[in-house]
Amino acid sequence: MFDEYGIPRGAELDEAALPALYHYVYCSRAADGVDDAEVGRIVGSAQRHNLARGITGILVFGSGVFFQWIEGPASQIQELIASLHGDSRHYDIVSLSQSEEERERLYPNWDMEKVEAEDIRLVLQDALESAEDKNNVAALTRILKQLDSGPLDSLGRS
Ligand SMILES: Cc1cc2nc3c(=O)[nH]c(=O)nc-3n(C[C@H](O)[C@H](O)[C@H](O)COP(=O)(O)O)c2cc1C
Repeated sequence: MFDEYGIPRGAELDEAALPALYHYVYCSRAADGVDDAEVGRIVGSAQRHNLARGITGILVFGSGVFFQWIEGPASQIQELIASLHGDSRHYDIVSLSQSEEERERLYPNWDMEKVEAEDIRLVLQDALESAEDKNNVAALTRILKQLDSGPLDSLGRS
């Protein structure tokens, strides 16, 4: 179980072999009538659904605009992407980033966390500061750049 240095056997192997993780990031506009209460219901059912499927991430809602980061096994994420694209509670879905990489989760403890719009930059910045994985650093840098170029603001205006 342990080698002569007291290190669990296979520990190094486990560290080297990170699981393939799929992530998808998008923004969209909330349909008429989708208010904070409805978003609360979306998050409640998302948490139950995501927990059972190994999906984690964050959902930001503000000024009638959603921004969501989801990560997990590719097949589960693809299924969720299809559901999201068929969900009439939002529209104008703009895919910002998606790929499969061997890396750690950005939000390992959040089955789906609702983040206030004014905190999104902070949440992404925090994730960037604690990210050790170069793929994560690159993806977060791209998202932050995208945020700074104002797509959320312009999407929020009708
Ligand atoms: C902005 C937004 C974010 C959502 N996020 C999730 C999510 O993280 N997980 C989830 O299971 N459903 C989420 N949903 C709900 C799905 O679109 C869908 O209703 C749910 O997966 C049930 O799909 P089904 O009826 O095809 O089974 C979200 C919906 C919206 C509008």
